[in-house]
Amino acid sequence: MTISIDLCGKSILLTGALGAIAEHMVRRLAAAGATLVLTDIRTEAEAKRILDAWKIEPSSYLYFAADIADSNQVDRVVHAAFEKFPQLDTVIGHAGGCGLHPFAITSEAEFEKIFRFNFLSQTYLARAVLAQWSPRKTAGHLIFTSSYVARMPHTKISAYASAKAALENFARSLAMEYTEAGIRVNVVSPGNVAAGSSLKVFEEDPAYREFVLRVSLGRRNSPESVADAFVFLCSPLAREINGQVFSADYGGGIGNRL
Ligand SMILES: NC(=O)c1ccc[n+]([C@@H]2O[C@H](COP(=O)([O-])OP(=O)(O)OC[C@H]3O[C@@H](n4cnc5c(N)ncnc54)[C@H](O)[C@@H]3O)[C@@H](O)[C@H]2O)c1
Repeated sequence: MTISIDLCGKSILLTGALGAIAEHMVRRLAAAGATLVLTDIRTEAEAKRILDAWKIEPSSYLYFAADIADSNQVDRVVHAAFEKFPQLDTVIGHAGGCGLHPFAITSEAEFEKIFRFNFLSQTYLARAVLAQWSPRKTAGHLIFTSSYVARMPHTKISAYASAKAALENFARSLAMEYTEAGIRVNVVSPGNVAAGSSLKVFEEDPAYREFVLRVSLGRRNSPESVADAFVFLCSPLAREINGQVFSADYGGGIGNRL
């Protein structure tokens, strides 16, 4: 028996589409034949330059610039995506991230901004997408990107970690609420990835570096392996998976290693 993943004919919406992990998601999903609706806060010109550098065929994607933390902009992108692809059935809420923010010196506004970006934005996306799927009776699939720190607290990331913890609970709650509609909601939870938003803090903060290396036995995840988890979840092989937090983290999220 040969098993391969063919996403031809499938349209997938991805937020935070120009980031470090997203690069490998976009490359793989496009290679599997999916048509992609990509959105990120960066301009169209920047997106074109980045996607050209990744050698993504312009015919395989549409790009919309939008701030995911602004519900009106999220509504606009989702509306445009469904106008172009009414059969769109997979949405990946991937935008997120933050640096180190010790609680004592993080203002109320900054804390709320991090929480909004990593949690509330995902609820804006879910709300806009479910409003499209419900009347069409689409058995859609929402996938969110969390992090192992949702379950492994660490210092200096309380806004980010609590937002990701909220996101995991939100996803599982929605999965339960929409089971009858045939809509699935899952989460991919990477460990510390040697790319993107965590590179700087890993390099600059010895305590964070020690924590990361201890919980994952010295290994950091590759963005490629995290992207593979998304490809699997987008595929028919995952059709019966719902309400799960799917960890690509070398087991770093299992529990604390002293
Ligand atoms: N890198 C890691 O170690 C790691 C670990 C666990 C989870 N994650 C999660 O994976 C996801 C991607 O992380 P990454 O490290 O690849 O990030 P990244 O910083 O490389 O990419 C984030 C992308 O989001 C875009 N963006 C920023 N603000 C935005 C906004 N307001 N609206 C829309 N787009 C915006 C950026 O332009 C960028 O392209 C995030 O959800 C992050 O929390 C990352």
